[in-house]
Amino acid sequence: MGRILEIQRLNFRYPDSRKKAVVDFDLEVSEGEVVVLAGPSGCGKSTLLRAVNGLIPHMYTGEYSGEVKVAGSSVKDSSMRDLAQTVGFLFQNPENQIFMFTVERDVAFGLENLGVEREEMRRRVDEAIRLLGIEDLAQRAPHELSDGQKQRVALAGVLAMSPKLVILDEPTSLLDPRTAMELVDLVSRLRKELGTTFVVVEHRLELLVKVADRLVVMSGGTKVLDGTPRDVLFGDEAEGYGISVPAITRVQKMLAKDRLAPTERLLTAEELAARLGRGAA
Ligand SMILES: Nc1ncnc2c1ncn2[C@@H]1O[C@H](COP(=O)(O)OP(=O)(O)O)[C@@H](O)[C@H]1O
Ligand SMILES: [Mg+2]
Repeated sequence: MGRILEIQRLNFRYPDSRKKAVVDFDLEVSEGEVVVLAGPSGCGKSTLLRAVNGLIPHMYTGEYSGEVKVAGSSVKDSSMRDLAQTVGFLFQNPENQIFMFTVERDVAFGLENLGVEREEMRRRVDEAIRLLGIEDLAQRAPHELSDGQKQRVALAGVLAMSPKLVILDEPTSLLDPRTAMELVDLVSRLRKELGTTFVVVEHRLELLVKVADRLVVMSGGTKVLDGTPRDVLFGDEAEGYGISVPAITRVQKMLAKDRLAPTERLLTAEELAARLGRGAA
């Protein structure tokens, strides 16, 4: 599988800031992977995402070194216009992403900016609306929608651009638990149906572990852990970096000595229920 994202020794310092926000950061992501990026507040997650979608260095000045390549092209040598066609980005607050009077026009916004031809635009907008299951919202005004619906509209606008890589910065932070779960299912479905690669900054690891191929933990601007969610969460270091280890995993660590073999590494409620159900039968 090809590499969709390569970050090599990235360093970035905001102007007037004494400390670097990102320090010697390395990461490689293959096409079709779902990577979750976690770490305490202020550790540099949003800054790192800005360096992937090109806001850094194109919009934010600062001290920049190292290399970020998306689909083989250097982000610093690409135009924002070119990057917009490869990297889709969802703001934390969908209000910042919604501009138009109807959902349909809003989903078309990015394509209109690129001057995509009418028929092609129609096709891509319809497809994105279908993928997100928001057909019934197409003629509504975005400002009258719920947070979960706005999030879907914003994501439809991102997908209409057919990005190879989608980066999401705490996408569930404004959503209730049920809508958050639906968003996670959506990520999983889009990866299957379209082969889209996702890099998702997320605190609610309980939600994401089901769909994530990898969990990357950042601390102080640099990468400290990188592996499958199971390897990272059952390692000894995860809790020390202040990430929220799922309750199921903590329960299992507590039970490991008497009821569950330490080689069984459970992450979800379903896995624990199945395991204990079997044991009791
Ligand atoms: N626009 C900015 N200007 C100056 N400093 C910033 C800016 N954005 C973030 N920082 C600083 O960079 C560091 C990393 O922040 P950020 O990337 O937002 O972390 P996270 O997303 O992990 O919470 C923090 O020290 C933060 O204060
Ligand atoms: Mg952030």
